[in-house]
Amino acid sequence: MNIPIRQQIYNDAEKWIYQAGELIREQIHDNYQIDTKSNVNDLVTEVDRSTEKFFAEKIREKYPSHFIVGEEGYGDKVDSLDGTIWIIDPIDGTMNFVHQKRNFAISIGIYHNGVGEIGFIYNVMDDVLYTGIRGEGAYRNSIKLPPLSDQVNIETSIVALNSSLACENSRINEKKVQQLIKDCRGSRSYGSAALEFAYVAEGIVDAYLTMRLAPWDFAAGLILVNEVGGVTIQANGQPVNILEKNTILTTNKQIQEKLLDNYIDLK
Ligand code: IPD
Ligand code: CA
Ligand code: CA
Ligand code: CA
Repeated sequence: MNIPIRQQIYNDAEKWIYQAGELIREQIHDNYQIDTKSNVNDLVTEVDRSTEKFFAEKIREKYPSHFIVGEEGYGDKVDSLDGTIWIIDPIDGTMNFVHQKRNFAISIGIYHNGVGEIGFIYNVMDDVLYTGIRGEGAYRNSIKLPPLSDQVNIETSIVALNSSLACENSRINEKKVQQLIKDCRGSRSYGSAALEFAYVAEGIVDAYLTMRLAPWDFAAGLILVNEVGGVTIQANGQPVNILEKNTILTTNKQIQEKLLDNYIDLK
């Protein structure tokens, strides 16, 4: 993607993210409609939908040739990585949004011919914007993030994962996950995949492991983590498919091998 065009897209996306964040904050105490999706704990609200619609309208007006992949159905049916694609999660961490009124993010990854060009993860209530620009680095509120530490090992690492992975489950050997929780310095579960990616990029969490993420959950985070020298792969070590659901391990490279070899045993 040529640099002036990328800069223009960056500027527009950043402006729209701040506008959408303001709209979300204005509605945070409203009596908005809450529905469920695949199960009773899978929540979606009117605010998720209106936020995605806001982005879809802005993008279609300014960039009619671009494609949109979004969680809430305002996007396009996209089955090829050709062209420019905006991959949008209007609210990542809807359960946190509803129950905690914090700890959720807007996540937007912009890809051109399959290459991640720009990633945005906006922690709406903290007003912290993480950005990643291919080849330029990752930033937290415009301050450049340093490369990830080369001094991390399992014993000194903080690992984010869904606590359900440590319970009996059909996807992963829970005994190994329990061992990981014992062996690492601390485990965390933030409830927003996008923020978990941002924390890995920031180096305040050393790895994030999860069994099923959609493109809108990881599209932005993958770009950020790349830019600080981290790596994002499927939990079986294979590359991530951008347009599909994937298991995900995003991590400091120092512990990638140990995690895959000693602690991740897929069923
Ligand atoms: C969810 C959150 C959650 C993760 C789920 C996602 P949503 O996204 O990121 O932390 O465990 O897999 O679906 O539905 O709140 O956008
Ligand atoms: Ca959802
Ligand atoms: Ca999500
Ligand atoms: Ca969402």
